[in-house]
Formats: sequence, C-alpha cells, structure tokens
Amino acid sequence: MGLLTLLLLLFISSFNRANSIKSQPYNAIFSFGDSYADTGNFVKLVRGVLPSVVFDSPEYGMTHFGRPTGRSSDGRLVVDFIAEALGFPHIPPYLSKEEDFTKGANFAVIGATALDLDFFHQHNITSIPPINSSMHVQLGWFEELKSSYCKIIESCKEYLGNSLFLFGEFGGNDYNFLLLAGKTIEEVKLYVPTVIDTIKLAAESLLKQGVMHMVLPGNIPTGCVPIVLTMYGSTNKQDYDNLGCLKEYNSIGTSHNTLLREAIVQLREKYPQARISYGDYYEPVIQLLQNREQFTELPMNFDTECPGFSSEEPLRVCCGGGGPYNYNLSLVCGQPGAIACENPMSSINWDGIHLTEAAYNYIAIDWLNGHSVSPPILRPM
Ligand SMILES: *[C@@H]1O[C@H](CO)[C@@H](O)[C@H](O)[C@H]1NC(C)=O
Ligand SMILES: *[C@@H]1O[C@H](CO)[C@@H](O)[C@H](O)[C@H]1NC(C)=O
Ligand SMILES: *[C@@H]1O[C@H](CO)[C@@H](O)[C@H](O)[C@H]1NC(C)=O
Repeated sequence: MGLLTLLLLLFISSFNRANSIKSQPYNAIFSFGDSYADTGNFVKLVRGVLPSVVFDSPEYGMTHFGRPTGRSSDGRLVVDFIAEALGFPHIPPYLSKEEDFTKGANFAVIGATALDLDFFHQHNITSIPPINSSMHVQLGWFEELKSSYCKIIESCKEYLGNSLFLFGEFGGNDYNFLLLAGKTIEEVKLYVPTVIDTIKLAAESLLKQGVMHMVLPGNIPTGCVPIVLTMYGSTNKQDYDNLGCLKEYNSIGTSHNTLLREAIVQLREKYPQARISYGDYYEPVIQLLQNREQFTELPMNFDTECPGFSSEEPLRVCCGGGGPYNYNLSLVCGQPGAIACENPMSSINWDGIHLTEAAYNYIAIDWLNGHSVSPPILRPM
C-alpha cells in the first residue's frame, strides 16, 4: 500500500469518526406512543391473534420501503426522519426480539392509549380492542430492556441521560375509543385532565431515572382526520372551519395540547436540568392544510423528486375505497380493492387516519429545528 493511499485511508477514517461523533449527539433514541410512532410492534403483537392486519398489507410502505413494515403510512414516520437526521439507523420495534437495541428501541403500538385497558373496562367502555399495549405496558417493556441493558452498560443513568426520549403521542386513541363508545365531545373532554395526569406521571418516572432529553408530542387536529369527517360529518356548515375540519372535534386536541403544555412547564420547574420539549403535531398539520402550495420542496432525505402537495382537496385520502374524502369504512387502505393514489407525496393524508411520509417529513423538520419543538431536538454541539 502506497503512503498516499495509507494517508488517504487514515484521513477518511478519522473524518468518518469525527463525522459520526458530530452527527450522533445522543447515545440512543427511545420512542413510545401509538400509530404515529409504531414502526412494527402492532403487527408482531397481533400476528396469529387477528386473521389479517391492513397495516401489514400493500400499499402500506409503498413509497419508501417498497413493502409493508407495520408502519401506518406509505413510508417513514417522524421518528424515522429524526433518527436519520441524528445519524442513527431507524430505531427497531421492541417486539422484533432479534434486533439490536444498543442504539435505542421503539415501544410504540398502533392503537395504544395513555390509560390502561382496566380503566376503560372499569368505566364500561367496551369499544377498546382487547390489546394490552397502553403507555404503562410500553414502560414495562422499557424496564425489561433496561434491566438487561444496564448489566452491560457501566453507567446506566448517564447512558439514559444522554439518550433522546420521544414520549408520545398518547391520548388521541383514548378520546377515539370514548367517542366510539357514544360519549359526547363535552363528555370526552372531561377525561382530558386524567389523560394528561397519567402522561405527566409517566414522563416524571423517566425523568427520575435520569432522562435528560425528552419530547412530549401532542395530539393532531382530530377534526381534520378523514375517518372523523366521514363518521361524524354534519349537515350544518357552521360545524366546519375554513379548512373543512370539524371544529368541535379539533377542540378535543386543543384542550389536550393546552394541558400537556402546562404539564411540561411544571415538569421543567421540577427538573430544571432536563430538556423537556413539547412536540407539536397540531399546528404543522393545520399549516400543511392551509398553505400546502408553499410546501413544494421536501427538505430532507427523499429518494425521488417531490412534486409538492396538490392544491386541490387537501383532506382527500391517498389510499382508500371511495366516498367524499376517499375514505370508506367498509373498504380501507390495505384491503383488496382499496387503491392508492399515484403520487402519495402530493397527499397529506395517507389512509384516512394517518399522514403520508411527505407530511411526516415536514413535521420532523419542524421538530428538529425547533419551529414546533421547543427547545429543538438538534442541539448545538
Ligand atoms: C358499569 O356498568 C355496571 C353494570 O351495568 C354498573 O353497575 C356500573 O355502575 C357501571 N359503571 C360505571 C362507572 O358507569
Ligand atoms: C396488561 O399487561 C400488564 C403488564 O404486563 C398486566 O399487569 C395487566 O394485567 C394486563 N392487562 C390485561 C387486561 O391483560
Ligand atoms: C365503499 O365500499 C363498499 C364495499 O366495497 C362499496 O360497496 C361502496 O360502494 C363503497 N362506497 C363508496 C362511496 O364508494
């Protein structure tokens, strides 16, 4: 080997090392939540229990992975984009036991609630499926992982303290199941303080263990979600805002988000050394619906050219089975006969409930740079 080659190799390897230190400012990323963050746990949890799962079927995953991965989207989620931006591999779902969790784990499960199954049963809410995946169950999985982790890692507290925790979104499903059980919007809102207290206590249990970097995402604007628009549509124009969203249903999310922000302020006072951020899913979705023509360049990590969001029918679902929003309760994305739009990147909503990877990309950028997460996830090195 010539001297020049050797020097070059040394240069490249030191450059790579410097680069990887710079671009991986955390030891690991841990993610909790529901379908907005699940990267494959739900499909593993119910395999063999449920006959078939739409999230495990085409066209899920069509844009990025080219196959269904258990993500509720055509491609990557916010957690995936955040991992990429921080120089991490995609964080593996905890229930795929064969994975390497040294860079973190994702405990999120589609349909997960903040409150436990028992809570719903005690309140006679039978609309919740019997899947044990609540926030506390996910924290239990984290404890399980931690107990094996901390045997090999010298200073576990330090390790966790230098890891990023994405804790949520939680709560959206709690409200959905209450609505499905026939509760009115006003009745559902009575549960918001209970949900927030539960989330706050859980976040605090992590902070007590030495967690120093935490993002607590809020709810999305439920009244702009096509399944809600389809199930609870109104003949009264007054019920809709200028974007075509159901105002009263959005008010569940805003109540939740207001209380969550208050809880975060209290947590910051109690744990001043920790960075506790609010992760906003609400405003970015409103922004996308409102100003979609302005979002023409996808900022990050896209394999293909992005044409920008379509200016027409922003509430229209990309993958669905007909109807005013292309959302059909009896023919949903993933079922044979449901069809995906040609260019998912020009849609905001993917399947009537979840967003497209293009929309998640914008949200991730917002969080990383601090427009919707304060303080921002990307910290100065
Ligand atoms: C639930 O239903 C049972 C039986 O109908 C009733 O006795 C109980 O009071 C109900 N509980 C609540 C919290 O509504
Ligand atoms: C759910 O799982 C938790 C923890 O594993 C357990 O304590 C609880 O009893 C389970 N609940 C149900 C309804 O299966
Ligand atoms: C919804 O799907 C069902 C079942 O495939 C179909 O019969 C119906 O026509 C669809 N509705 C609309 C509005 O397309």
